[in-house]
Amino acid sequence: MSKDKFYITTPIYYVNDTPHIGHACTTLAADCLNRCHQLKGEETFFLAGTDEHGAKVAEAAVKAGQEPQQFTDEISQRFVEAWKLLNVDYNFFIRTTNPDHIQLAREFFQRLYDQGDIYKGRYEGLYCVGCEKFITEKELIAGKCPLHDRVPEKQSEENYFFKLTKFAPQVRQLITSGEFKVSPENKKNEILNKIDAGVEDLSISRANVPWGIPVPWDEKQTIYVWVEALLNYWTAPQIVGQELWPANLHLIGKEIAWFHCLIWPALLLAAGEELPREIFVHDFYGIKGIKMSKSLGNVITPQALVDRFGTDGARYLLLAFFPHSTDTALSWELMEEKYTADLANGLGNLVQRVAKLCERLEFDQPLASVNFWNQENPTGQLLNDYRFGETLTGIWQKIKKLDQTINTQKPWEKSDTALEKILTPLVGGILEVASALKPFIPETADQIEKIFTGKKIKAGRPLFPRVKPDKS
Ligand code: MSP
Repeated sequence: MSKDKFYITTPIYYVNDTPHIGHACTTLAADCLNRCHQLKGEETFFLAGTDEHGAKVAEAAVKAGQEPQQFTDEISQRFVEAWKLLNVDYNFFIRTTNPDHIQLAREFFQRLYDQGDIYKGRYEGLYCVGCEKFITEKELIAGKCPLHDRVPEKQSEENYFFKLTKFAPQVRQLITSGEFKVSPENKKNEILNKIDAGVEDLSISRANVPWGIPVPWDEKQTIYVWVEALLNYWTAPQIVGQELWPANLHLIGKEIAWFHCLIWPALLLAAGEELPREIFVHDFYGIKGIKMSKSLGNVITPQALVDRFGTDGARYLLLAFFPHSTDTALSWELMEEKYTADLANGLGNLVQRVAKLCERLEFDQPLASVNFWNQENPTGQLLNDYRFGETLTGIWQKIKKLDQTINTQKPWEKSDTALEKILTPLVGGILEVASALKPFIPETADQIEKIFTGKKIKAGRPLFPRVKPDKS
């Protein structure tokens, strides 16, 4: 049976701490694309979840004075709540402590062992618990992992290795032929260069990390957290009992590209499974030029953003500033300016002005809503390349044009008959904008559609209340 759903995923986030807007970046991007595919009439499946095993999570549980299971139950719930707050509409939330995931991961692992792609060896090197990976001296800055500001630990242990070197040439070839698509181009080239610089077999079990999935044939060891985490994309469809694999799109941040673009396809090739169709790799949000991260302590939470800008305000800002192929420097000031210019003044004002004019005229020719996403148009096409910010800029050009029409035609000076001639295309334009905005700010888009397709058009309260600049 061939799958018929567009299957999209986000990274499953570590539950060592609460969610921040860096996590929301990828999850909102996936939500936006998922909604877009639905508006095009496709059936979709959107997977979210949390990564709950490994040393990093176990360490955080000890710090919190809790058992790891109790700790992960609590923190994973915070991700569920954050996505609810941001109106993220996923189909399934996978947790890697799910017993079915554990069972399926063990079976997958056993398969690779039985066919001889896993062997026993000794690993000696530096390990960054923050990254949950072995790290080389070259990657350190002043002796520390720059992403986690942490001194890596020296490790030397016997564990199991996966023959990554055996599969790397095939993965490379599939990337260059485009059969396994890695985008954007700069990230694809980085991966190819890194493969060319040399690949080693991968240590895929741990002797001293009890908070993990036991290796089926040697229960003293646990499966390396990254390997079973990647498997979530493949176990989830089996858990929900749907024919979804291969995924159409994995969305990820750049620091985990190596795992997704080389290790993941290599594991799948070894197991004789199909590869995901595409991996899109984005850059980071930073605060004052530093990557936002829990470990560096400079995070903004989704709650703080929603408190200030509302759910759709927060969604708009995060997608407008999406770090497509370069990092985005965020600040409260920048976000407040953008919110005020684009939402309170731009879209909010336009809707209010036109609704007021309609109210005055008792404009009673309700127009049908339109579907921007099932027509060919250059603005919509920008989203095919995951250019969230540019797509929004394109939609805002339409908003500006509608504003200019009002300013030049001065409808308030016109007779009622002339006013009607102006209003019909204006309302049509607003409905097109509302449709275009559905994947980005769905509640507001629906609200606008309701205002202008209803029997009696009435200007309600402003869509986006003004915010006072008081955060730094
Ligand atoms: N658990 C692994 C992923 C396993 S997927 C099989 C992990 N978790 S994480 O909690 O560290 O999340 C990393 C991801 O969160 C990044 O790849 C990116 O998607 C997102 N972001 C975290 N910080 C970010 C920014 N500052 N900016 C944008 N996205 C960022 O790695």
